[in-house]
Amino acid sequence: MRRKALAVVICGLLGVLGTAVVAEPAHASAPLRTHAAERGKLIGTAVATSQLSNEAQYRDTAAREFNAVTAENAMKWDATEPSRGQFSFGGADQVMAFAQANNQVVHGHTLVWHSQTPGWVQSLDATQLRAATQTHINTVVGRYAGRIAAWDVVNEVFEENGTLRNSFWLQRLGSGYIAEAFRLARAADPTAKLYINDYNVEGQNAKSNAMYTLVRDLRAQGVPIDGVGLQSHLAIQFGFPSDLQQNIQRFANLGVDVKITELDVRMQLPSDATKLATQATYYRNVVDACLAVARCVGVTIWGFTDRYSWVPDTFPGQGAALPYNENYNQKPAYTAVHDALDDGGGPVDTTPPSTPGTPVASNATLSSITLNWPPSTDNVGVAGYDVHRALGSGAFAVVGTPASNTFTDTGLAAGTIYRYFVRARDAALNRSADSATITATTQPGGPPPPPPGNCRVVHTVSNWGGSNGFTASLAVTNTGTAPITNWTLAFAYTAGQRLTPPGWSATWTQNGSIVIATPLDWNRTINPGATINIGFNGTHTGANPTPTTHSINGGNCTTM
Ligand code: XIL
Repeated sequence: MRRKALAVVICGLLGVLGTAVVAEPAHASAPLRTHAAERGKLIGTAVATSQLSNEAQYRDTAAREFNAVTAENAMKWDATEPSRGQFSFGGADQVMAFAQANNQVVHGHTLVWHSQTPGWVQSLDATQLRAATQTHINTVVGRYAGRIAAWDVVNEVFEENGTLRNSFWLQRLGSGYIAEAFRLARAADPTAKLYINDYNVEGQNAKSNAMYTLVRDLRAQGVPIDGVGLQSHLAIQFGFPSDLQQNIQRFANLGVDVKITELDVRMQLPSDATKLATQATYYRNVVDACLAVARCVGVTIWGFTDRYSWVPDTFPGQGAALPYNENYNQKPAYTAVHDALDDGGGPVDTTPPSTPGTPVASNATLSSITLNWPPSTDNVGVAGYDVHRALGSGAFAVVGTPASNTFTDTGLAAGTIYRYFVRARDAALNRSADSATITATTQPGGPPPPPPGNCRVVHTVSNWGGSNGFTASLAVTNTGTAPITNWTLAFAYTAGQRLTPPGWSATWTQNGSIVIATPLDWNRTINPGATINIGFNGTHTGANPTPTTHSINGGNCTTM
């Protein structure tokens, strides 16, 4: 029964009984993500890594209200590959870990853009730029394959008049760079939805017409493009794009998904009650337009609190663009988004899908395993599956979120035993029970040699007498000839050991069996020959074997 109807019945009964107290169902004040999930939509926010690290209220709000996140800056080229071939994934990994811990979908932003792309990329000649783009997309998209729902493959490729932006990409590679980027991204992660993203394309105009034509033509040529992102950086003084829904619908009719990817609604400061009320109607209209089109998968807001927003830095004199004010108080815009998502009594789906059948592993290669399992059923529909993997006896982590009952797990070590189980989920994020757990082994034989890490790690473990605590000390030496900057050090536990945060001299996190350290400001660079000493306390039960394999930025270190 729809809740509105139920409320009417209850109200009627109470009326007959002579007591007419109609309370809002408690559910009405549920967080945005609860309502969005019931509508089968994503409600997302951009997140900034320093705020995630430093501010509990920021973390708590992002986790409570949103079922999707986009890295505001951490996955851009200048963050992930600041100098050629030197990848730094500290921030991107942090966003991934936050999303996984909070059961959030990740939208990857962005691969090919004229902005926030380092000078070294922009100064390459055509041949080198092609090669560097291939390496970049392979490495970044490959690293998160199966764990990122969608990537903004190209961002802001149009001028306002609808011609292609005269960027270094176009100048160096010609218009073919767009199709090439999509093909590279598909090869690196066949499961991610691949998006083209832009601003000032919310209404129908020269720019969005050009985007429409390009998406149609690329798809006709077999270029793997699955989605269109409408950034939606709106301003109340410019008016609302009243044909937004129509525009979303025409893209959807091309057979692609549509997402509002970067919503904010700015105003001339100071704000006042009238402007905030107008802003709220803009937020409401955007969410309503997305809800009205089946292929609009969701709305991501570009941050959530006015305490941290790109607007005042970019548009001087403007601001107050987000649904929470600087003190994390909800503004009318929050209520507008909430009420748009809460349909006041749509059917609430609380029935989880049936338990998936036992997975069957096949096609094991040196580095991949394919799983298939008998599908689940659901009263509304199975939206997808979460594939959980553990290394040996280690902890399980989600390694893939396929839409159907098959998944190829890649990037595995040769001759290694993995365990898997799967869980089904529906659009309301009800999850099934776990399938049976199976064991699968990659083909033996030497794995392809990992890139040299140019590093040595001396890992010393001292167990505390009479308790299950221990102290781990790692001396990390740069054995190469170039400085190592923005390093990410990783190793795996094999016996269920747990890191006790925070550790010292690095930012330490643990994800399943994998422990990751990223630098503090003072040890961000390790010069050739230099050694840094980092460590943490932890707990173990039973054996506490010292990890023997360590990597820095993906390359293996020698271990002593
Ligand atoms: C912005 C970030 O919010 C800022 O922190 C950064 O300094 C500049 O970029 N369109 C995009 C986003 O695609 O990546 C931009 O994000 C905002 C405009």
